[in-house]
Amino acid sequence: AATVTYEAENATISQGAVNADHAGFTGTGFVNYDNLTGSYVQWSVSVAAAGSTSLAFRYANGTTTARPMTIAVDGATVATPSFAGTGAWTTWATTTVTATLTAGTHTVRATATTANGGPNVDSLTVSDTGGGGGGAP
Ligand code: GCU
Repeated sequence: AATVTYEAENATISQGAVNADHAGFTGTGFVNYDNLTGSYVQWSVSVAAAGSTSLAFRYANGTTTARPMTIAVDGATVATPSFAGTGAWTTWATTTVTATLTAGTHTVRATATTANGGPNVDSLTVSDTGGGGGGAP
């Protein structure tokens, strides 16, 4: 199995900005989605071993209103998590969804579905569970 973290600030950003004004992010910043429906971050990710793959989004939402997003892999929706409020813009949490992927390169796009836009997104961690070599007996 393999785990790789991809920073949001290095991904393709549509209608968002890279900011660094709320502590606790990794890398050089995070993406502040524009406050509108349709803003997105898209990563190109590499999956080493085919099978169940977890996609863990590290985010902050300093409001009390969820900021739901559609998660799509290669253009197909795999989940619609809510990205609930985390209590502060400096409090980061992780929302994980699972998809069954082939080995190789895929796009993962997280698109805001309300007029509030997405939460602030720090990174995406991709963990494949295939390939053997670990786990409980
Ligand atoms: C504040 C906050 C931003 C955040 C924005 C929002 O302006 O400083 O980091 O992205 O609210 O509501 O989306």
